[in-house]
Amino acid sequence: KLASEHGTPLYVYSAKTIRDHYCRLDEALAGLDHRVCFAMKANSNLAVLALLAREGAGFDIVSGGELFRVLKAGGRADACTFAGVGKTREEIEYALGQGVYSFNVESEPELEFINEVAGAMGRKAPVALRVNPDVDAQTHKYISTGKSHNKFGIGIDRILGVYAAAAKLPHLKIRGIQTHIGSQILETKPFVEALGKLVPIVEELKSLYGLEFFSIGGGVGIIYHGTLESGAPDWWKRAEADGGRRIAFDDYAQAVVPLLKPLGLKILLEPGRSLVGNAGAMLAGVVYVKRTPAKTFVITDAGMNDLIRPALYEGHHEIVPLKEPAADAPRGPVDVVGPVCESGDFFAQDRDLPSVKAGDRLALLSAGAYGFVMASNYNSRRLPAEILVDGDKAEVVRERQSWDDLIAGEKLPG
Ligand code: LLP
Repeated sequence: KLASEHGTPLYVYSAKTIRDHYCRLDEALAGLDHRVCFAMKANSNLAVLALLAREGAGFDIVSGGELFRVLKAGGRADACTFAGVGKTREEIEYALGQGVYSFNVESEPELEFINEVAGAMGRKAPVALRVNPDVDAQTHKYISTGKSHNKFGIGIDRILGVYAAAAKLPHLKIRGIQTHIGSQILETKPFVEALGKLVPIVEELKSLYGLEFFSIGGGVGIIYHGTLESGAPDWWKRAEADGGRRIAFDDYAQAVVPLLKPLGLKILLEPGRSLVGNAGAMLAGVVYVKRTPAKTFVITDAGMNDLIRPALYEGHHEIVPLKEPAADAPRGPVDVVGPVCESGDFFAQDRDLPSVKAGDRLALLSAGAYGFVMASNYNSRRLPAEILVDGDKAEVVRERQSWDDLIAGEKLPG
């Protein structure tokens, strides 16, 4: 119905699922003094932010623009941690002016620069250092961040020295410590390994500088494999058989809480994908079915510009026809592709799907995280609309771009 009303490509999110995920994580951590700071890079629609802010979430931000969004959505700056390796003067001034809870600092030059900017503003900047624990998160190389060859954080072997240097800078207030080892992590082992390395250091830093918090980052993986085609119980079994593992929040909590509790610190978490990933789908229309001697291509009106995960990380998204096919409908391996002029513009290759025809519609599942936020105007394609479904209400929370939006801000010279 939504696809008919609003056209495709279309992102659709479930408010109930987002709330449910947030509450389940929050409850799993009930034994800890904690705050969940949603890593809003995963989905920064104002409506999603507002709904999480109402639940009590803080936000993990990575740019001035993200802070701007939090404030527009009614979130609080003092519940935000500001991460990222390249914060500019403008962003630091803005974040300091608005009173963010902490700058998560990723290098010595950044530490000195924040000190300088804070000094010029007559302020003290609250900081935490991001420590890179050098563990293997066993995830895709583009989303692994906790190895020593990654650009992120300060090496675990140097962290004490950098804290000592930070403590000498007059316009900084040491508030905490942070780590994040990667994304879409499907077992608890890498988290436990990282904490095993970090906890003794955090204890030492706490006694030296009176830390207030330890942020353990995000990274909890979700299910991308498995569909609801034949009902939940079956789907669950198939997902498991498919390697569709994920970490349940309870298992995550059971693994990390015992390590963290003795620290007596406020524990921050920065989940992105695990709160919103399975709460969203992208709907696409089939434009043509092209049969060649080598392959069958299902060509959709959505492209890699709308959902780039398959092209960029070989990310898997289940694809289901919006109208359930008859049980005896023919099936076969197809490539589901977009209209963009790139061979990388595919959503699935050699995927066994029920046969579809032009005019049918498909849903690409688990697209609520790193979906719309990574969309672009490549090939001068308009950004899709976003819908938030809450109970029996479905609201357009972002209009589809118009062609005029495509050229907004551009000018023909003189
Ligand atoms: N904290 C920090 C410092 C991060 O860099 C990230 C993600 C998160 C938290 C949230 O991680 P999550 O809970 O969502 O795993 N675009 C990629 C994922 C990039 C993740 C970047 N950093 C994808 O589509 O798979």
